[in-house]
Amino acid sequence: MSESPTSRLVARELTLAYDDHTVVADLDLDVPDGEVTVVVGPNACGKSTTLRALGRLLKPKRGSVLLDGTQLARIPTKRIAQSIGLLPQSPVAPEAITVADLVSRGRQPHQHWWQQWSEEDERAVTDAMERTDVTALGDRLVDELSGGQRQRVWIAMALAQDTDLLLLDEPTTYLDIAHQVEVLDLVRQLAVPTPGGGRGRTVVMVLHDLNQAARYADHLVAMKAGRIAAQGRPGDIVTAELVREVFGLASLVVPCPVTGDPLVVPDAPRITSPRKAATPS
Ligand SMILES: Nc1ncnc2c1ncn2[C@@H]1O[C@H](COP(=O)(O)OP(=O)(O)OP(=O)(O)O)[C@@H](O)[C@H]1O
Ligand SMILES: [Mg+2]
Repeated sequence: MSESPTSRLVARELTLAYDDHTVVADLDLDVPDGEVTVVVGPNACGKSTTLRALGRLLKPKRGSVLLDGTQLARIPTKRIAQSIGLLPQSPVAPEAITVADLVSRGRQPHQHWWQQWSEEDERAVTDAMERTDVTALGDRLVDELSGGQRQRVWIAMALAQDTDLLLLDEPTTYLDIAHQVEVLDLVRQLAVPTPGGGRGRTVVMVLHDLNQAARYADHLVAMKAGRIAAQGRPGDIVTAELVREVFGLASLVVPCPVTGDPLVVPDAPRITSPRKAATPS
């Protein structure tokens, strides 16, 4: 990892609003190439709004998002879709679509009028489904899956798109702890440089679990009320003071016994009645 990574995707003085309600104000962000950036912050602080603007789903009120130095607004949609994949917080599947069909839709930006489906498309879809553990669900209807199964199918679709930049809004929602770790490990794996010396993928994801954020982020961005409160290496910025400032929560921050990353432990419960003793069976 270089000392100061380059950034293909940057936000400059980005202000985002819904009608007259400004949600994000004057935000500057350099997304480090080939690294995993994790965005944390309280509900409604503007994380999803920011991610959507980075993926051009939302037009800036002021300022801009630049990809390779060009404003997203000036880049053809298909080229953006070949470069940036976005998994929204609550994606909606077309009715009565199967898992395999939905994942295949991730390949649309790569298709041409003269060739609808290539071996490369097939390989990308098969690989994405294997990596997210949904191969066995291929013929099932997306509507009929559990929340966690469905979430993994969406991640498969985003992976099948095979973009250098991947924006994931709470990809671990609905997942049990083992599948959460599996997805986060997979995300980390994506950012690993290729054996040929090529750069790994660049990922920006929103997470709510601060401990997972500290463990999986190269670059951590803490947002509060539409602004960046702190950003940097998790070990450099995650302190009890930051947790109090951003979330209003008293906590202890200790080194994780497994990785040494900061581990946030909420302070003593406010309700101090003793737990019921276990009843002997
Ligand atoms: N489509 C919309 N129209 C109007 N207001 C919106 C819209 N989407 C979000 N907002 C508002 O913008 C603010 C930021 O929302 P956003 O979804 O970015 O928050 P968030 O940080 O992702 O929160 P969460 O952790 O709950 O997902 C909130 O006040 C929300 O009500
Ligand atoms: Mg959100």
